[in-house]
Amino acid sequence: MTSSLFFSSVFENRVPKVSVFLCFLISLHCSSLISNRVFAQTPSPVFACDATKNPEVSSYGFCNASLPTEARVADLVKRLTLQEKILFIVNSAGSVSRLGIPKYEWWSEALHGVSNVGPGTKFTSLVPGATSFPQVILTAASFNTSLFQAIGKVVSTEARAMYNVGLAGLTYWSPNINIFRDPRWGRGQETPGEDPLLSSKYGSNYVKGLQQTDDGDSSRLKVAACCKHYTAYDVDNWKGVDRYHFNAVVTQQDMDDTFQPPFKSCVLDGNVASVMCSYNKVNGKPTCADPDLLAGVIRGQWKLNGYIVSDCDSVDVFFNSQHYTKTPEEAAAIAINSGLDLNCGSFLGQHTEAAVKQGLLNESAVDNAVTNNFATLMRLGFFDGDPSKQPYGKLGPKDVCTPEHQELAREAARQGIVLLKNTAGSLPLSPTAIKTLAVIGPNANVTKTMIGNYEGIPCKYTTPLQGLTASVATTYVAGCSNVACASAQVDDAKKAAASADATVLVMGIDQSQERESFDRVDLLLPGQQPLLITEVAKVAKGPVILVIMSGGGFDISFAKNDSKITSILWVGYPGQAGGAAIADVIFGYYNPSGRLPMTWYPQAYVDKVPMTNMNMRPDPSNGYPGRTYRFYTGPTIYTFGDGLSYSTLSHKLVKAPHLVSIPLEENHVCHSSDCKTIDAVEQSCKNLAFDIHLRVQNMGKYSGSHTVFLFSTPPSVHNSPRKHLLGFEKVFLPAKSQSLVRFKVDVCKDLSVVDELGSRKVALGQHILHVGDLKHSLSVRI
Ligand SMILES: *[C@@H]1O[C@H](CO)[C@@H](O)[C@H](O)[C@H]1NC(C)=O
Ligand SMILES: *[C@@H]1O[C@H](CO)[C@@H](O)[C@H](O)[C@H]1NC(C)=O
Ligand SMILES: *[C@@H]1O[C@H](CO)[C@@H](O)[C@H](O)[C@H]1NC(C)=O
Ligand SMILES: *[C@@H]1O[C@H](CO)[C@@H](O)[C@H](O)[C@H]1NC(C)=O
Ligand SMILES: *[C@@H]1O[C@H](CO)[C@@H](O)[C@H](O)[C@H]1NC(C)=O
Repeated sequence: MTSSLFFSSVFENRVPKVSVFLCFLISLHCSSLISNRVFAQTPSPVFACDATKNPEVSSYGFCNASLPTEARVADLVKRLTLQEKILFIVNSAGSVSRLGIPKYEWWSEALHGVSNVGPGTKFTSLVPGATSFPQVILTAASFNTSLFQAIGKVVSTEARAMYNVGLAGLTYWSPNINIFRDPRWGRGQETPGEDPLLSSKYGSNYVKGLQQTDDGDSSRLKVAACCKHYTAYDVDNWKGVDRYHFNAVVTQQDMDDTFQPPFKSCVLDGNVASVMCSYNKVNGKPTCADPDLLAGVIRGQWKLNGYIVSDCDSVDVFFNSQHYTKTPEEAAAIAINSGLDLNCGSFLGQHTEAAVKQGLLNESAVDNAVTNNFATLMRLGFFDGDPSKQPYGKLGPKDVCTPEHQELAREAARQGIVLLKNTAGSLPLSPTAIKTLAVIGPNANVTKTMIGNYEGIPCKYTTPLQGLTASVATTYVAGCSNVACASAQVDDAKKAAASADATVLVMGIDQSQERESFDRVDLLLPGQQPLLITEVAKVAKGPVILVIMSGGGFDISFAKNDSKITSILWVGYPGQAGGAAIADVIFGYYNPSGRLPMTWYPQAYVDKVPMTNMNMRPDPSNGYPGRTYRFYTGPTIYTFGDGLSYSTLSHKLVKAPHLVSIPLEENHVCHSSDCKTIDAVEQSCKNLAFDIHLRVQNMGKYSGSHTVFLFSTPPSVHNSPRKHLLGFEKVFLPAKSQSLVRFKVDVCKDLSVVDELGSRKVALGQHILHVGDLKHSLSVRI
């Protein structure tokens, strides 16, 4: 319990809500104290333009829902003094009572369920918990884009339900779509993994699920999402280098083909309402003070329809920790002039007025910022009066933790769990033939560990032990007192395994080993975990199933090599129903279909590679091996896309061109010189696409879902990736059935690579397409 309390206070924010949390952990008596305090008055949502409190509001243009948003916002901004405007560029915003505008807390979180990490959301006896989905890294492993969206939709429904009873906000600072570039990163668990395409699909679909209204009107928002942390952020605290001081040195090429694509897709495909700039510097400039990154790219090129918010409190960090400006007024001015609209923190509240007085900042720039913020609140209905009369106004506590929502949490965990090793005859276990199961390990009966960070309070938990015990009789031995496992109690564990028909070891880590502000330094299972696993496996009577619970990957070559360990499963942090989902997979009620969203490296990798080196590409001059399956060619434990099924699947190419010709105009330079590439923006290359059709066959006796990956290896020009993902498609295949899977490949978008200057080029020559073990050669010519 002490450890969970500790973790609840180390989030991004530094605003501990430990007391509320403590009450929940301690007793019902305590939680009734909370409810007495909170519910002295009828719970009601916070909103502006309440005509019952102030009849005059009906005459205000900004309260008139039949006017266009821009006109309403303009009307509001012109009524405010500079001092009042400044109240609306910080997260704890407002109020202006003369205009009927109450305080609004912008900061809420919903990474994988409504969370009480931000001060905008809380749980009370009225809504004691919300559906807690798997941590994002496991959901990403499902490679199911409709699942990503379905989860977002449930989360926004629960968020609206909680808003309606005054417990939650409308603006959520989720998802985290940074690339999981290094396996040690403590926040890798929050992300969709190492691949830019998967991250883009995850981000845009989760955002749609959160934001889209049922009537599909994109001028309205169900809740507002936020893609973070922009950009090239993914060192938290590694060997004394922390995110508040880290300067990410990033090449233009890595920026444009690795770090930026998920953000671009989030804005362009997801139509997200917000982007959050990060703490770190990129090439010497704090991201929240970089006019090229904010006003230039996000608002200029990508045309964000929404607001740009700082991390909490990036502006303070670049002034006080990075000493980027001489005075606080200069810091405020440079942030707002760069395109920042909202400050998580209080820095802009304190220094903006003086910055205007000193002539560092025009009031019109503050107007732009509040305009973006107000426009977002307008789209959420905040200025439309009584929410109970609006869409979603009827949602309430009964719509949180419904059986359907909780079932989706279990389904998401099932779809994500990855089977990494399975010796013939090991899994699935037969729930009738197996009479006794030894369940061993420090994570075998955990609750909070399963929901990772940026969590809420779940509806309930099913621990692995409880999930397994629902099918067969179990004997439970923790084996280690915690995941650090300083000294394993091997004897009892061995005794249990020696007499049981099968053994399940639930090992791995938790937030004590990887979390926000805490990166790992190695990739080994902690302490005596390997000893416990190996000793138990030696004496086990039946199959031994090793279950790894974690965000990041491990060097578990000892277990991979050990023939006594017959199966290995990676279960991420599987959410509130994680134990039930693990049992579903182990007993074959669900045929595993998850695939790793990140590479698992050997320990030697991290001994060699500093976490602070941002380069994606290998450097043969100094032996730097590069990062992720796209660039790294060294040994791996497991790689991106790995994952087994209980069935055998085969792929057959049905339709794919061998030649793609790009028509060029007569006078194009490539007709006269020896071109290796052509620009992917050229007219000739537009709308050039082809189809790939594959027949996928499930040859086994288990029905199940299967992800088909289409990779491509471009000709090696411009240090291009050795292989990259063009598309993926998850299909359900009944036993002994087949299905046709179609990909449409856009030559310019999908086959192009980014050159050293950040321009997209289509390489001429042989491209190799890969699906499973199939390879298909495709010649691109002019
Ligand atoms: C709201 O705006 C509409 C459209 O301009 C206008 O017809 C209507 O009179 C306005 N309502 C109020 C109460 O001012
Ligand atoms: C303020 O606006 C004026 C007029 O548009 C412009 O010339 C000036 O550069 C602006 N000042 C700052 C600090 O942006
Ligand atoms: C397993 O965990 C649950 C939930 O914390 C607890 O109620 C139960 O007593 C634990 N079981 C064992 C055998 O320790
Ligand atoms: C596992 O097996 C591989 C290949 O045989 C070998 O190179 C490696 O040293 C082994 N690792 C361990 C920890 O046993
Ligand atoms: C993807 O997820 C959705 C939502 O859970 C589910 O209905 C669908 O069957 C999944 N698709 C596959 C191919 O498993």
